[in-house]
Amino acid sequence: MSGTAWGWSAAAAVVVAVLASLPFWLPGLVVALRVRIFALVNGDEGIPVPGKLVGTEDFKRLYADPAANGRSRGAALSDLFWYWLAPGPQVHQEHLEPGPRYDDVARTTRRTITRLRKDDWEELVARCAATELDRLGVTATRARVVRLRDAMMPLWASVYYEVVFGERCPPDARDLIVANAEDVVSALKCTRLRHMGRRERLTRYLRGKIDAGAVPYGLPAMLTEQEQAFYLQGTYFNTAVVQMSEAMAHLLLAIAARPDLQRRLRKEADHRQHSALLDRVIDETLRVYPLFGVAHRITSARIALGETVIPAGSVLLFNYADFHHAGAPDAAEFDPDRWLREHLEQVNNIPFGVSANRPCPARGIAPLTMRVAAAEVLRRYALSTSAGHTRSLPNRGPCLLTPLDADQREPRRPAARLALLRVRDRWEDVWRSLVQLVLGTYMVWDARRLRLCRTYFAAQEAEQ
Ligand code: HEM
Repeated sequence: MSGTAWGWSAAAAVVVAVLASLPFWLPGLVVALRVRIFALVNGDEGIPVPGKLVGTEDFKRLYADPAANGRSRGAALSDLFWYWLAPGPQVHQEHLEPGPRYDDVARTTRRTITRLRKDDWEELVARCAATELDRLGVTATRARVVRLRDAMMPLWASVYYEVVFGERCPPDARDLIVANAEDVVSALKCTRLRHMGRRERLTRYLRGKIDAGAVPYGLPAMLTEQEQAFYLQGTYFNTAVVQMSEAMAHLLLAIAARPDLQRRLRKEADHRQHSALLDRVIDETLRVYPLFGVAHRITSARIALGETVIPAGSVLLFNYADFHHAGAPDAAEFDPDRWLREHLEQVNNIPFGVSANRPCPARGIAPLTMRVAAAEVLRRYALSTSAGHTRSLPNRGPCLLTPLDADQREPRRPAARLALLRVRDRWEDVWRSLVQLVLGTYMVWDARRLRLCRTYFAAQEAEQ
């Protein structure tokens, strides 16, 4: 072979090697780049907790401080969250400033959720799960790869429709809710741009229900009818549906990746499919894969932590994963049996926030309803996956569902199909991370341009 030919073959080999190795390094690099670009566009106004200024040991104390109570006003970062949660972010419970309107909204949510007793929740979730799992099209002869987050959304849309309206969810409403929730969560993960048209179709539907007097369990009285529609959309058909679908996707993906754990779960399930192990797996899932990345607060007064003083007007960025994964050498590992060894208080674990500072109103019912839905899935299918599992779950949890036989015997894991799934997931990661980089940068820029939060508060100040 001539020297030139050698040169060409060597160059071709390098190109092939670089291309083949893309899935192993490009997604990580792009994530790091995205974080840098977001920081550049947003400015570095925030104080990361835990971080240089405040350590893990003071995380909970700072979060629970009465002066860590500002929610939206005064943080440029709020423009981005309002952009993602629109329409109506100004009445979204998570982003309302403390005061009478917040109290009215929080009271209404509490009343709506606690209206149902434990048995009612169990019956409702089991029934909706059975209906929606039947619609997945997995039959005795047809195993299917599904995206777990997508598979779970119609279930939670139906559940929360019934919680709010006290009647079974019609298919057109379910589809509107799913379209809205998918749009919000995909924009949040930067895998798609937001589509306000899809969201506004649901707002109009909800407004119609309110005008027809079809919301039997009360609405926040201090809000206008339009704001009440935004409240329903934000709390139930956005937050509840998205959070429950994400939590279930994490839970089922963690089980699918661990055949031994899945076998133990089946063995330990009693006649109602309840097991203490399943409860531990749920706790461990929410600990290792906390649904909140960062929750922010704006300080309304100075806070002293020993020598450290945090001035009023600071933006605190509470990083859930950093907190959960600190404190013990094996804290980042998925080990449901840790809950047999360690007491809750000894583990850094606040999956539903801190009780002194606006914790999740669904902290009581979320694990209970996850258990019922997971039991229904495990009773029907063997789950297997080889896909990547990260906290932000941009791949939506690819998983192979194979029906169990009448004796609940598991089929053999399909090695070839799983190998293919792995390759596909890795390559999708390459493309997706580039998409996230471009769309994320655009949305951060667009949110800064629109200044939804700052404009809202400026108009309020001008009125006073
Ligand atoms: C496993 C599922 C869920 C998890 C892990 C979760 C987690 C959280 C966390 C960590 C917070 C506090 C964030 C902060 O401090 O800023 C929160 C707040 C909130 N969550 Fe959840 N959540 C879940 C399900 C739900 C559901 C089903 C609903 C609706 C029924 C809901 C509605 C809310 C609301 C309205 C807030 C704001 C609370 C306030 O500021 O007063 N969440 N959630």
